[in-house]
Amino acid sequence: MRVFVTGATGALGRHLVHALIAAGHDVTATTRTPGKAAGLREAGAEPVVLDGLDRDAVIAAVSAAAPDVIVHQMTALSGGTRGFRNFDRMFAATNELRTRGTDNLLAAAERAGTRRVVAQSYAGPGPDARPGGGLKTDDDPLDWRPLRTAVRGPAAIAYVDATVPVKAAEGIVLRYGGFYGPGASEAMLGAVRKRMIPLVGGGMGVWSFVEVTDAAAATVAAVERGEPGVYNIVDDDPAPVAHWLPYLAQTIGAKPPLRVPAWLGRLLAGDLVVGQMTGSRGYSNEKAKKELGWEPRYPSWRDGFRAWTSG
Ligand SMILES: NC(=O)c1ccc[n+]([C@@H]2O[C@H](COP(=O)([O-])OP(=O)(O)OC[C@H]3O[C@@H](n4cnc5c(N)ncnc54)[C@H](OP(=O)(O)O)[C@@H]3O)[C@@H](O)[C@H]2O)c1
Repeated sequence: MRVFVTGATGALGRHLVHALIAAGHDVTATTRTPGKAAGLREAGAEPVVLDGLDRDAVIAAVSAAAPDVIVHQMTALSGGTRGFRNFDRMFAATNELRTRGTDNLLAAAERAGTRRVVAQSYAGPGPDARPGGGLKTDDDPLDWRPLRTAVRGPAAIAYVDATVPVKAAEGIVLRYGGFYGPGASEAMLGAVRKRMIPLVGGGMGVWSFVEVTDAAAATVAAVERGEPGVYNIVDDDPAPVAHWLPYLAQTIGAKPPLRVPAWLGRLLAGDLVVGQMTGSRGYSNEKAKKELGWEPRYPSWRDGFRAWTSG
């Protein structure tokens, strides 16, 4: 198939380009930076320099490529987690890409007659409105507790979830768990090493992870098959922070994380982080396994973290 990948140079995108080419697909891959085009060509893709927020340019580029499938992997998270106390401010550019960027690709798909659109969404930790409510299925909404500093971010994620399956002829939303693995979330390792991620309020918030090459494999599956809808792309082992964080610290030879009460966590890091640490729910991957025929190579972050950090 001809596949148009936006965000092709990102943490997931670069593994996805390789995996699509290895599976025999023709890939057009976008970047905003002309200097990154050679790397995409070397990987076997046809590079296109494109800003996903430039609607006319997006429509023109998609029309020229005439793809069978469009993949939306555009985010703007490489600025790091500075300013994490205000989720909306930190995610402002990503929110644009999730709303306006999605609209541009959907319009381009319609013009070019591209039926299938696969878009990135989020199954990471959050301050759940119903903590303790068990694993979230693919039908469950994001459902975060309302926070003053996290309004636009959750709305932008919910926009992708609600719009893509309805507006594209075959719209697929992949809600990825927390990425780790080659080229992903390296900043987290540094922070764990420096004991900058404490266990807040007992750390009973449950997180779902996915190794980044496993996430790329799930994306290839969604390019090739699956009914329209939302799919959680997470491993088999949702776990409380109190389990995975000390394990990760031990795996990399760091000291155990510091322990901080919730009130102090709130003061230091804000409500969202405390919600992630204490009131987050994990996600079920049953639907993706059954309907996309996807099996993660790392069913548990326990093996995955070891492989990630031993390389
Ligand atoms: N579920 C998760 O846990 C999750 C999800 C996403 C990211 N992350 C983490 O966040 C960190 C940063 O992610 P990242 O490395 O993927 O970087 P990123 O800054 O989020 O960029 C991702 C991709 O989006 C593209 N992009 C950004 N703005 C664009 C625009 N206006 N138009 C077109 N394309 C645009 C970038 O392309 P160019 O810069 O080449 O134009 C890049 O290919 C990583 O550690 C990653 O693991 C985690």
